[in-house]
Amino acid sequence: MNILVLYGSYRRDRAGIRLARYAVAELTARGHKVELIDAQAVGLPMLDRMFKEYAPGEAPSNMANLAAKIRAAEAFVFVVGEYNWGMQPGLKNLTDHYLEEWFWRPAAILSYSAGRLAGARSSLVWHGTLSEMGMVVISSTIGVGQIGQALDEQGTPTGDGGAALARAFPRFAADLEWWGEAALAQRERRAPPY
Ligand SMILES: Cc1cc2nc3c(=O)[nH]c(=O)nc-3n(C[C@H](O)[C@H](O)[C@H](O)COP(=O)(O)O)c2cc1C
Repeated sequence: MNILVLYGSYRRDRAGIRLARYAVAELTARGHKVELIDAQAVGLPMLDRMFKEYAPGEAPSNMANLAAKIRAAEAFVFVVGEYNWGMQPGLKNLTDHYLEEWFWRPAAILSYSAGRLAGARSSLVWHGTLSEMGMVVISSTIGVGQIGQALDEQGTPTGDGGAALARAFPRFAADLEWWGEAALAQRERRAPPY
C-alpha cells in the first residue's frame, strides 16, 4: 500500500520526528511504500490560496507535488504533537491547503507529547478535523508519552514507553491496512459519489 506519514513540527529541537521515523520504518517493514511528509521540509506558505484555487499549472511546485502524492496515497498516518492543548500549526497549515485530495481514504492518528498524556487532547481534535476533510479515521490510536524517553533520535524504541509502542503498533497498522484495502476495493468497485 502507498502510505503517507505526515508530521508538522517546525521547532529546531523537535522530538516528534522520532515517532514519524518509527512509523515510516515499521510500515516499510510491513511491505508498504511509505513516504514521510515533513511539513517543515515541504515549506508551504501560511495559507493564502488552497491548491484548488490556483489555475491549472500555476500552483507553486511544492504544493502541486504534494497534491499528487496525497491523491496517489491509499492511507495516511498523522503524527501529531500538542501545543497548549491544541494542534501544531505547521501540520494544520499543510492539511488545510487541500480538501478533495484527501477524500475516500483512511487516516490513523499517532499522538505524542513530552508529558504523560501523550498528546491525547490534540489527537481528539485531529479526529474531527480529518473526518471533516473526508478521511475515514480509524478507531485505533496510539499515544506516546514522554517522547524523548520512548524513542531515540533515529526512531528506535527505548525503555518502557518504547516497548509499549512496539507492542501496540502491529494492531494499529493492521487496522489501517484493513481499511486502506477496503477503501481501495470500494473505489475500484464503484466511483466515489462526489
Ligand atoms: C508551545 C508549546 C506548547 C506545548 N503544550 C503542550 C501541551 O499542551 N500538552 C503537552 O502534553 N505538551 C505540550 N508541550 C510539550 C510538547 O509535548 C513537547 O515539546 C513535544 O516535544 C512537542 O513536539 P515537537 O518536539 O515535535 O515540536 C508544548 C510544547 C510547546 C513548544
